[in-house]
Amino acid sequence: MDALEAIMTTRAIRRFTAEPVAEADLWTCLRAAQQAPSGGNVQPTRYLVVTDPDLRTKLGELYLSAFGRYAAAMPDRPTDAVGKRIGRSAFHLARTLAAVPVIVFFLMPRQESLVEGVDIGPVAASVYPAVQNFCLAARALGLGTTLTTVIRIHQAETLDLLGVPDGWEIAAMVPLGHPAETFSIAVRKDVAGLTMINRWS
Ligand SMILES: Cc1cc2nc3c(=O)[nH]c(=O)nc-3n(C[C@H](O)[C@H](O)[C@H](O)COP(=O)(O)O)c2cc1C
Repeated sequence: MDALEAIMTTRAIRRFTAEPVAEADLWTCLRAAQQAPSGGNVQPTRYLVVTDPDLRTKLGELYLSAFGRYAAAMPDRPTDAVGKRIGRSAFHLARTLAAVPVIVFFLMPRQESLVEGVDIGPVAASVYPAVQNFCLAARALGLGTTLTTVIRIHQAETLDLLGVPDGWEIAAMVPLGHPAETFSIAVRKDVAGLTMINRWS
């Protein structure tokens, strides 16, 4: 697939079929993730792939509970058509996460900076490019993903469930599966209205 087409049509997919993900495809996505840039080429990301049905069930419970807390904390629910669609879609994922064949955690070290004592940007800046590369590779293979973070509301329980040692935190949790919806170009704000040339204006 053409790289630009993959970029333009990669969007949040939250409805999946029960079809399993081929192991070779999962590794293609992970290799793509690992090709992403990182500050000083430190490559801080750890990938934790969950396929075990019992673990997925427990993650589904934690995610649904986290999503409920998130929804309750939102001051105003969106009332426009796009906002309502995202809300319904996000709630669907929260109710069905356990059925998604693969759930990938992107873990990052709990530290201020990748290089002690100097600010070369937040650690997360060296992790999210890997997440997006993973999602783009999945798209190229016809697989769906969504970058999610709501599980951080139950971060301690989730890390404990997955046996993650101290010193690591969740950057993202990405469900991966065959989409039960179609890929399309999402409507976004016009980039021309958000771009300045040479001076802030
Ligand atoms: C940092 C970040 C956190 C997100 N967390 C969640 C989440 O926890 N659950 C979820 O369903 N979607 C989550 N999303 C997905 C967004 O809702 C989605 O990217 C946005 O609505 C645009 O969707 P679209 O590309 O399909 O138009 C997150 C996206 C980002 C970038």
